[in-house]
Amino acid sequence: MNEQIVILDFGSQYTQVIARRIRECKVYSTIVHYNTPAAVIAEMNATGIILSGGPSSVYAKDAPLPDKAIFKLGIPVLGICFGLQVMARFLKGKVERGQKREYGKGTLHVKNARCPLFNALPRELQVWNSHGDKLTRLPDGFKAVATTDNSGFAAIENAKARFYGLQFHPEVVHTPRGKKIISNFVHKICGCGRKWTMRSYVEQSVEEIRVQVGKEKVILGLSGGVDSSVAAALIHKAIGKQLTCIFVNNGVLRANEAGVVKKVFGRNFKVKLHYEESTNLFIRKLRGVTDPETKRKIIGNTFIDVFQKATRKVGKAKFLAQGTLYPDVIESVPIGGNPAALIKSHHNVGGLPEKMKFKLLEPLRCLFKDEVRELGAELGLPREIVMRQPFPGPGLAVRILGEVTPERCEILRNADTIVVEEMKSNNLYYKIWQSFAVLLPVRSVGVMGDERTYDYTIAVRAVESKDGMTADWVKLPYKVLETLSNRIINEVSGVNRVCLDISSKPPATIEWE
Ligand code: XMP
Repeated sequence: MNEQIVILDFGSQYTQVIARRIRECKVYSTIVHYNTPAAVIAEMNATGIILSGGPSSVYAKDAPLPDKAIFKLGIPVLGICFGLQVMARFLKGKVERGQKREYGKGTLHVKNARCPLFNALPRELQVWNSHGDKLTRLPDGFKAVATTDNSGFAAIENAKARFYGLQFHPEVVHTPRGKKIISNFVHKICGCGRKWTMRSYVEQSVEEIRVQVGKEKVILGLSGGVDSSVAAALIHKAIGKQLTCIFVNNGVLRANEAGVVKKVFGRNFKVKLHYEESTNLFIRKLRGVTDPETKRKIIGNTFIDVFQKATRKVGKAKFLAQGTLYPDVIESVPIGGNPAALIKSHHNVGGLPEKMKFKLLEPLRCLFKDEVRELGAELGLPREIVMRQPFPGPGLAVRILGEVTPERCEILRNADTIVVEEMKSNNLYYKIWQSFAVLLPVRSVGVMGDERTYDYTIAVRAVESKDGMTADWVKLPYKVLETLSNRIINEVSGVNRVCLDISSKPPATIEWE
């Protein structure tokens, strides 16, 4: 690897976002622990160093501090927020507790437009701050390059040493031109080219997986969703037959789900695939259950049991592979340490490994969803899989309100197939976050031909979202709604009414349960 930016992690929740921005600049980066010795960083052939933000104060007793010698390597350094304060502490500046915490949007005034960090950027920029301490005296050899209303030293530079510091966060989306600032650092200051691509990511991950796994066996729970599918394709590329995928049919899958997985992975990729047909077991366990959280728990626990048994059937494996993405890692941390603050129990992170004695293999852990899709395409997975909309682990069970019965599953599966077909044929499916049908367990009166009907209602849910955390309902064209309604009522027996869900998240959630 010729060029790489080494990111020292001081515990900021945005460290992975910095890495992502650097990947967007087509440059390779590695995140290392904040106290990684300077000699190790030199050996890594770092082209530049970024000091991440972090929650501490640089003067705290147990403050995380780097090896001071990193400033003697002759490598450009960019300190972000806490990273800037680290530079101040080591290079004879001064940091003090600010009068008021600077948090949220601010305006940056660039005073020295010749500073390469602000190359080809306007003199005024919207930036996002999140800090209590602030720099009150410049470190030796530094000049202020930009200010905010609250700080005379919002961006600082020592051009000779090629040291730069930013009090704000250029990596977050709330700093709209932040990506250009990072690009300026890696391209203009560190001199990196644009060599890194998804193909290099594949090559490197394959190498790392081979080293981590050695000759051991790996199992992976394949759901047919984007994440586990891409993880499977990547791991399969690395270790071939050492990988066995287990696909559990929990009875609440969409139509033809199992067929697609068997075709793509079994036939095309020749992945070792173990298919576990457990529909009856799941449906039996769900009988009479109406509470949403109880349904989720039953499905989660039953899945673990079935999966555990299946792992014994396929033979001893040392590693359990999961398609965990970076946002899963963050989202599964209870807010403020309070487990009750988790809105819904997402059982796709944790759970399995705790109950089984596996080592974890999570090759997508630092990637974001769109990057995983790009990776999937690079690995040759079909669009149908890489671009598919998210589907919850507990499947159709959280889209059938009240009790889950085989009859209701059948009705919802048929209605859902129509929604997916129509969204695809109207060129909408891949443009939005999710579109699906929900079965309401209330019956209402209708008339079909000359006969009175007393049937279920289907709600159509279509939402736009960036990350599933917030969402808005999609204003689908009337023509599409008309076709959806006609087709569902005419083709799905058991349904005589179709409604459209026009709730945003919050206050509603995307799934109904
Ligand atoms: P909610 O309903 O919480 O959903 O607004 C946000 C996103 O998460 C998906 N979702 C799940 N995904 N396991 C999953 O893998 C789950 O238990 C689960 N519950 C909801 C949902 O489809 C939406 O994209």
